Amino acid sequence: MPFENIELTTKDQLAYITINRPEARNALNKETLDEMVEALERLSQQEEVGAVVFTGQGEKSFAAGADIKQLTEKSAMDALNPQGMQYVYDMIESYEKPTIARINGYALGGGCELAMACDIRIASTNAKLGLPELNLSIIPGAGGTQRLARLVGKGKALEMILTGKMMGAQEAVQFGLVSETVALEDLTAKVEEVASKILDKGPLAVKLAKLSVHMGTETDMKTGLMLEKLSQAILFNSEDKNEGTQAFIEKRKAVFQGK
Ligand code: HXC
Repeated sequence: MPFENIELTTKDQLAYITINRPEARNALNKETLDEMVEALERLSQQEEVGAVVFTGQGEKSFAAGADIKQLTEKSAMDALNPQGMQYVYDMIESYEKPTIARINGYALGGGCELAMACDIRIASTNAKLGLPELNLSIIPGAGGTQRLARLVGKGKALEMILTGKMMGAQEAVQFGLVSETVALEDLTAKVEEVASKILDKGPLAVKLAKLSVHMGTETDMKTGLMLEKLSQAILFNSEDKNEGTQAFIEKRKAVFQGK
């Protein structure tokens, strides 16, 4: 079935999920989220795809949050829906392939929360990030209260959430909310440069490094260290580890198979 709210494209080993509602500043309605899940499920089956980029259509907005028109109809039961926005972003955070948010403008509310669920965030200099949900008398409910505090610290997160203040791209770099900022016209090239560094690595090592960081930081140190050790045990027994170490010794580029 063709998508109506997103575009799914691939360029070599990189897949792009582009939110395609520029007339609504790429606001995330239910249909968009459903299509995102479908796209991720399809990409799971495509072994040749090594990483996924999330972005928004146009030059103004990555995503301006949940669709406020749909929010008017939401009840308590919708907030408790186990397959809501929080679920989709959890799925992205634990997705087996690495993810990059290409933040091309506003990343607000659920849009900022989407970016925070990705592994890496790269923003154009015109980007603005924030969690303005309290203006609507709701809270950031798609992981925002948790992921923002973990990324920028509790004090800055509380300031941003309680005041609804937006952060510019440069400040977002300073606080670790995004890793880099470049001019909008250079954004795709920068994203692809970062992606290609990841794609050069052994896919199994990428998968287990991602898992160790995400899961390890959500548990106590001892459990996190054990998770790291077990991941390393899997890698020490992998063909890619033999290839990676041998390629270094033979002064050639490694060719990884993902096993
Ligand atoms: C629905 C939206 C929208 C949104 C913008 N639009 N954001 N529609 N939901 N989140 C629509 C506008 O209604 C308008 O439609 C068109 O997009 C252009 O918007 P403007 O405001 O005219 O554009 P601009 O002046 O460039 O301002 C851009 C903006 C602003 C700063 C992004 O639109 C804005 O503040 N949007 C709301 C951001 C927000 O509050 N996000 C949090 C949502 S709550 P028309 O038809 O008039 O042209 C949330 C909860 C997540 O995300 C957690 C839930 C579990």
